[in-house]
Amino acid sequence: MHLITRKRFIVLGAIILLMLVVSGCQAPPEIVQVTVVVEPTAVPTETPEDQTEYHAAWESGPHSTYDVARGPNDWCARCHSPQNWNPEATIGAAPNCVSCKMFEEITVGDGNVLIEEEDWFAIPCETCHVMVNGFATELAYLNPITMEYKAVSNSTELCEQCHVTTTGNAFGSGVDNKITFGGSAHLNYGGFIGEEAPPTYCVDCHDAHTTEPKQCIDCHEDDIATAEHAGGAYGVMKDTVTCMACHDASGADVGPNPAEDIDLWTTTLTTVGRGGPSTDAIVSHSIVFTVACDRCHFEGNAWELTVRTADGEIPPPPTPTPEPVEDPAAEETETTDG
Ligand code: HEC
Ligand code: HEC
Ligand code: HEC
Ligand code: HEC
Ligand code: HEC
Ligand code: HEC
Ligand code: HEC
Repeated sequence: MHLITRKRFIVLGAIILLMLVVSGCQAPPEIVQVTVVVEPTAVPTETPEDQTEYHAAWESGPHSTYDVARGPNDWCARCHSPQNWNPEATIGAAPNCVSCKMFEEITVGDGNVLIEEEDWFAIPCETCHVMVNGFATELAYLNPITMEYKAVSNSTELCEQCHVTTTGNAFGSGVDNKITFGGSAHLNYGGFIGEEAPPTYCVDCHDAHTTEPKQCIDCHEDDIATAEHAGGAYGVMKDTVTCMACHDASGADVGPNPAEDIDLWTTTLTTVGRGGPSTDAIVSHSIVFTVACDRCHFEGNAWELTVRTADGEIPPPPTPTPEPVEDPAAEETETTDG
């Protein structure tokens, strides 16, 4: 792809130039891995007069909920309501997370204690902020056992106290909630020097209190409006194919969203359970620039999309295989033998 190669050269060239300037041309430039280092997102340092809007935002979001179908017990509380967590609790044999999702009723594992709604803390201001006179100030994580604050070096580290994967431990218990950031589009993008930095922390996209995310289009409206976007083919696909079905770097399967009536293409995951294989839409947080058209338009695809190469070209029809030349001698021999 000429475009990328040229683009990356410009970026690399700019870096080498920058290094020459910085080093005063003393040393020959070395090729370095371009890693974006961004200052941590600003945290509140002073107490605003009125925090009503933050309370309202938090109330509307998932961090303030009590949900009987989401294990409001002393084990699951570790992340769902840290101040209700009993570190001595072990996960009950059954019901497990699956049963919680399947049945909209109170499900508590053997030996786990149900926590009533009036005793439930959820994830309040003090879990993430040092509180002064009832007002939220700087960011820190409240250790629910010692009730002491643990410093975090940035807001993502705070989110990752709970948005983690804890499976694979000796007890065979755990949950799988880590958000995997990958792909070079935002994390390792060298071309923004002097421009706006790409989102690097969770709260660059997610409002910390409602948790509502910014959508791709909120920042990239101009990029996708260009006639060249997706080799000029974006227009015919924009109502069907989501950004991440094309720009995903995780290698997930892609296809129509199985949960939607409309065929909106997205990243999917197929798991095999007792009822056989089932396919669900998944959210990918790994973004790349380079898109291979044949991720969907591959030969023999089940959706009858036109066959295209990775670059979007329609491959020439295969050269017809020449008719086998009749060999009268061989034919004769065969007939004789038979
Ligand atoms: C290590 C932290 C942690 C523990 C322990 C934990 N959860 Fe969660 N849970 C989360 C986070 C974070 C989310 C939101 C993640 C998301 O939607 O990607 C979540 C979301 C959920 C959801 C809704 C999303 C979904 O996957 O359908 C259910 C249901 C749930 N948890 C049930 C439970 C139950 C039941 C337990 C105890 C057996 C439990 N959780 C223990 C962190 C945890
Ligand atoms: C899950 C963690 C979490 C919880 C719970 C939380 N906050 Fe925050 N809060 C944050 C983060 C992270 C930021 C920084 C946001 C940013 O930089 O965009 C923040 C920022 C703020 C700010 C400063 C905003 C600014 O622009 O300077 C205020 C005020 C605030 N929170 C109040 C509250 C109040 C009040 C509550 C309880 C109703 C609360 N927060 C609950 C994580 C949290
Ligand atoms: C104390 C643990 C904890 C911390 C810290 C935390 N979360 Fe959560 N988060 C959860 C749990 C538990 C849920 C699921 C709540 C539910 O659905 O009942 C959740 C839900 C969410 C959801 C909605 C998931 C969905 O399926 O819709 C988003 C988005 C989210 N959190 C983002 C963040 C961000 C961003 C931060 C950091 C500013 C953060 N969280 C910090 C525990 C936490
Ligand atoms: C580039 C912007 C962006 C950044 C950065 C980002 N998110 Fe998201 N996130 C989104 C969008 C957009 C969605 C909603 C996707 C949808 O609904 O299709 C989402 C969905 C989610 C969900 C719910 C879906 C799920 O996987 O269950 C959780 C939880 C979440 N994000 C947590 C996080 C955390 C934690 C971080 C930081 C480690 C983070 N996000 C960073 C844009 C972002
Ligand atoms: C908060 C703003 C913001 C959001 C939300 C956001 N991006 Fe970006 N993205 C940027 C910035 C800034 C850059 C750096 C280059 C630029 O300025 O375009 C970037 C870079 C990129 C690049 C690489 C561009 C290149 O020329 O190499 C791609 C591809 C991309 N983003 C796709 C996405 C997708 C897909 C989403 C949604 C999941 C998304 N972005 C959400 C701000 C954002
Ligand atoms: C049909 C696949 C497809 C879809 C859908 C798609 N893109 Fe792209 N996008 C591409 C291709 C192809 C490129 C050029 C990269 C390449 O040549 O591999 C590109 C380039 C970009 C760039 C870099 C533009 C530049 O000038 O440097 C951004 C940013 C971007 N896309 C964002 C988005 C966003 C945001 C969406 C959703 C609104 C989206 N894309 C949907 C295929 C797609
Ligand atoms: C994530 C899957 C996906 C990727 C990747 C993808 N497409 Fe498509 N494409 C589709 C779907 C689905 C349709 C059918 C859209 C519709 O009918 O609304 C389509 C339709 C088209 C069409 C119109 C119908 C036709 O075949 O002539 C063109 C042209 C096209 N794609 C070109 C491209 C090009 C060029 C690329 C690479 C830049 C690409 N596509 C990448 C899914 C994809």
